[in-house]
Amino acid sequence: MKLEGGERMPKPIVDIELCIGCGACPELCPEVFEMRDDEKAHVIGPDKCNSCDCQAAVDSCPVQAITLE
Ligand code: F3S
Repeated sequence: MKLEGGERMPKPIVDIELCIGCGACPELCPEVFEMRDDEKAHVIGPDKCNSCDCQAAVDSCPVQAITLE
């Protein structure tokens, strides 16, 4: 990951094809992820994580659907 002036925060991305709707990520980070009617997690606040850089969400997903960009 390239940091430019320490400002560049990683942004989480959910691979909709992989997400099985387990709900772990919105439970962990409701400001970053939300479940929608398709029962998939969607990123609503890619910049909202200010504690773990979304690494906890990445680690919590059972199907590795979350990646950081
Ligand atoms: Fe889906 Fe993984 Fe979140 S299965 S609901 S992206 S923790």
